[in-house]
This record gives sequence, C-alpha cells and structure tokens, in this order.
Amino acid sequence: IQTDIPRVRDAVPFTMGSAFTRPDTLGVHGELLARHFGSLTPGNELKWDATEPREGEFTFTDGDYLVDFATSHGMQVRGHTLAWHSQTPDWVFAGATKEVLLQRLETHVRTLVTRYKGRIAAWDVVNEVVDENQPDGLRRSPWYQITGLDFIRTAFRVAREADPDAKLFINDYNTEFPRKREALYSLVKRLKDEGVPIDGVGHQLHLNIEHPAASSVEATIERFATLEVDQQVTELDVSVYTDFVSSYDTIPPELLIQQGHRYKELFDVFRRHAADLGSVTVWGESDDVSWLRTWPIARLNAPLLFDDDLQAKPAYWGVVDPARLA
Ligand code: G3I
Repeated sequence: IQTDIPRVRDAVPFTMGSAFTRPDTLGVHGELLARHFGSLTPGNELKWDATEPREGEFTFTDGDYLVDFATSHGMQVRGHTLAWHSQTPDWVFAGATKEVLLQRLETHVRTLVTRYKGRIAAWDVVNEVVDENQPDGLRRSPWYQITGLDFIRTAFRVAREADPDAKLFINDYNTEFPRKREALYSLVKRLKDEGVPIDGVGHQLHLNIEHPAASSVEATIERFATLEVDQQVTELDVSVYTDFVSSYDTIPPELLIQQGHRYKELFDVFRRHAADLGSVTVWGESDDVSWLRTWPIARLNAPLLFDDDLQAKPAYWGVVDPARLA
C-alpha cells in the first residue's frame, strides 16, 4: 500500500470508518484499513445468520477476529446489525407467536451486546425497517407482521440494558429521498416521544455517480438535526452506474474523475455538518471487495476510495485534497 499519502482519517473532522467483510484475507487490506480508518464495521460477521445460525448456538469466531483487529489497531467498531429482515435464519420466525419472537430477539440482542460491551461503540439496533410506500411507513417484514413496532422497542430496550454506553442507531437506506426521509423522521420522533432509547440515525448512503444530489443529503442531515439525535453515515459508496443493466469492461478514466468530484461535493456537506455527524463509514475499503460487483448484476464497478490494487483513486483525492483533482 502507499505510505506516502495522507491518511483519510486525518483529513476529516469526524471519525472515518470502513466496512470489512472478508476475515480470511485481512492481510494487506488490513494494513490499508488500519492506516486510513478510525472505525470498522464488520460487513456480515455480526449479522444474525453469522452469530446465531441455530437457536441458542452462538458463533463469534469471525466477529471476534474483526473486533479484536480493530481494537488492537485503535479503531472503534460499529456493530451491524441486531434486527434485520435479511440474513436472518428461518428458525427465528418459524412458528413464532409474538411472545416467542420477542423472547428470541431479547436473547439474541442481550447475548451480542453483552459480549462486546465496551468494545462496540455504536450498534445498528434495527436495520431497514422503513417502507415509505406503506400507509404507516413501516416495512412489512416478519418482524413487523408478528410484533408490530414491539420488536423495535424490545431491541432498543435490551441493547440499552446490556451496554448503557453503546450508542444505539436506527439505520436505513434512501434516507436522502424526501418521502423516505419523512417516514423515518416520523417513526424516530414517535419512538423517542415514547421513551425508546434511540441515540441516533444511520444514513446508509448507497449513491451513484449522479444521483441523488448532494443537496438532498444535506437536507436530510438538516432535517434530523431538528430531532436532536446523533447521525452517522454508515455505508457510503458511489456506483459508477446510474442504472441496473449497463456494464463497462474498463471503467472510463473520466468517470473516475467525475466520481472524485462527487465525493468532494458529499464531503463538503459532511464537513459543513461535522457537528451533527459522529462518523462517516464507507462500505468497503477498496473496489475489489465491493458488494456492487455482484449486485444488482455481476459487473465491474468501482464505488470506493481505493482501487483493486489498493491505490488511491480520484475519489480518495476528492475526500482528502480536492486540489489534486483534475
Ligand atoms: O459466505 C458465502 C460463501 O460461502 C459463498 O461462497 C459465497 C458465494 O456467493 O457467498 C457468501 O455469502 C455472501 C456474503 O455476502 C458474504 O460474502 C452472500 O452470498 C451475499 O449475499 C452477502 O452479501 C452481503 C449483503 O449485505 C447481503 O444482504 C454483502 O456482503 C454485504 O456487504 C451487504 O451489506 C448490506 C448491509 O448489511 C445493509 N445495507 C445494504 C448493504 C449492501 O447490500
């Protein structure tokens, strides 16, 4: 890796994080992570399917490995995620009454949060619970269908009990779009008014090279600032495609420069709102590990700050020193 360029973490006025999701190959990727980032989010290793594949059988090998790596390199950890509708084993919902499901949730949340007490600074307690196309703005997941809003109340209550010092987040994508922004805002306001211990809102920010405008991101940060919650950017990446079908064999260099300017505009917003943003996390340290290489189709994509050879891209310079952008 390059050692003659500034660390990303030193160039921004908030904690800079990255997801990582391949513990078998930490190696040189680990060096890049530890050099540039002050926070690490295990990309898959703390999800329900990874930590409790069968009821009561907890496995923490991969989670421990990443949490230990982060801690020993002076990085914070974001815990992702305690209750989600995806990557959750079938047994969790199978034959469950509301009472049984909430008991399973309580056991799961208490076990994970207690295990990492003092080592995980922030948890995505619930992930992607909003659906702005429903009349009440709530996703019709099995969690919702069986418990209504009670799974959210239970997850936050138990997480707070298990580690009173961890910051507890509700995390979602597309929060930069007005309808989803408002649906999430109403939900957070309602739950906070009830006394549910929500500390913050996580904006995933899976964006593309053109959309949505940085001004929509800014409007979202300003909107939630009125709720007096912490905010974090939790999964930032910038796809080079604006549709779900195109595919490049080689990504045009001018597009990578455009992407650099896009990152610059976004980080201009983040810097202006540094008082509201505790951290900004990118969803992967380098293009070779991005989930956007397989979703929504298998194609070459390059959404992150470092390329396949772990070299700094224009996107990196857009964040660290925009004067170096062409
Ligand atoms: O572990 C298996 C491996 O054994 C197998 O050989 C391989 C073959 O495809 O699959 C591996 O599992 C994959 C897993 O990532 C680990 O790499 C799954 O198929 C794949 O579906 C899974 O994708 C993850 C995705 O969440 C699933 O929902 C991505 O890595 C992860 O980055 C992504 O992260 C989500 C956030 O949690 C929530 N927000 C959106 C974000 C992007 O989708």
